[in-house]
Amino acid sequence: MRKVYMNNAATTWPKPQEVPDAVYAFMTRDGANASRGSASERDIKSLDILFTARMKAASLFGGYAKANPKYVTLTSNVTHSLNVVIKGFVKSGMRVVTTSMEHNSVVRPLRELQQNGVAVEVIQASLRGYVDPKKFSEAALERTDLAVVSHCSNVCGSVQPIEEIAEICAKRGIPLVVDCAQTGGVLPINASELGLAALCFTGHKGLFGPQGTGGIVWKPEFADACSPFIVGGTGSLSHEETQPDVMPDKFEAGTMNLPGFSGLDAALDWIDRTGIDAIREREEKLGARLEEGLLSIKGLRLLGSARGEAPRLPVYAFNIDGKDNGEFANDLSMTYGIEGRPGLHCSPLAHRTLGTFPEGALRLSPGYYTTEDEIDYTIESIRALASK
Ligand SMILES: Cc1ncc(COP(=O)(O)O)c(C=O)c1O
Repeated sequence: MRKVYMNNAATTWPKPQEVPDAVYAFMTRDGANASRGSASERDIKSLDILFTARMKAASLFGGYAKANPKYVTLTSNVTHSLNVVIKGFVKSGMRVVTTSMEHNSVVRPLRELQQNGVAVEVIQASLRGYVDPKKFSEAALERTDLAVVSHCSNVCGSVQPIEEIAEICAKRGIPLVVDCAQTGGVLPINASELGLAALCFTGHKGLFGPQGTGGIVWKPEFADACSPFIVGGTGSLSHEETQPDVMPDKFEAGTMNLPGFSGLDAALDWIDRTGIDAIREREEKLGARLEEGLLSIKGLRLLGSARGEAPRLPVYAFNIDGKDNGEFANDLSMTYGIEGRPGLHCSPLAHRTLGTFPEGALRLSPGYYTTEDEIDYTIESIRALASK
């Protein structure tokens, strides 16, 4: 059976060939731990992989870290990054503002903190999944210790007015944390120009790296104000029994995912060569073709905005009248080999906002390597299944 991958919002696939090649080279040729050897050539190579990943992330996301790459923390994914930032900064008695379009990687740490005396204000986004900066501004009138906002919804692709939100935060002196899981490598974003306290990214989506990689681009003062919540060996200052306060070691206890970061380095080189504008243009073209086809299917209700109406990325979630999205996704996969993702996408609040809780929706997300022919095949397969 033909196989069509339409789940790039979950993780991009395939990756550029250089990525698995780099992982393989590390596993079979290099392989040493970082800062935990005798400074052999292989030990230095491992350190270099991490240093290079920091430099490249700093260069892609701009900012303070560009001048000082130690202010890039490497993590295992954006969930890890968000936990480091949120739990590292927020204390009982603080007030945090966030939005109703967040992924559970933001919502769950905040709900946990709420049980420990933290006030959490959720700004309701529109039915199409957009946060109104005016509402944000009103919510931030009260004392706000931290704001956490995702740049783009993983459910319906809505891109938030992050520049306006950042301006409000800058004026009021509110540290702003942005979840760039869906936009890293796709939309340009510059942490220092926006004055972000922390930009959190994951390596395996738009950055085309392996799973198990991610990071944080910090504003130095904000990193200094956060406490690490994972502590342990750093390969440095081994005489000390407490966690070093120096960056990047402060937030990087334990052996790093070196095979993963080898792959991420190669992926970031590929992005640099290809250009994020070219990547986005290709994906938008595919998205437009998919959207047009989906809208031509009788009884199909698309979530979020239509193209051209408001900024969005090609992440399309929908329901079809009279069909259960889970069963539909299963049939689409079993009968036509098309892989998407049904359900709630780890984002119950976003689905409540879009009016699709608890049933969820079927999400299809083409990627850079999707072909036009695959889009057409997907549309015709959905049309055929929907009419049954
Ligand atoms: C907006 C958003 N935030 C957070 C995440 C969590 O990503 P990860 O599983 O890589 O930590 C995702 C992944 O779907 C996402 O789309």
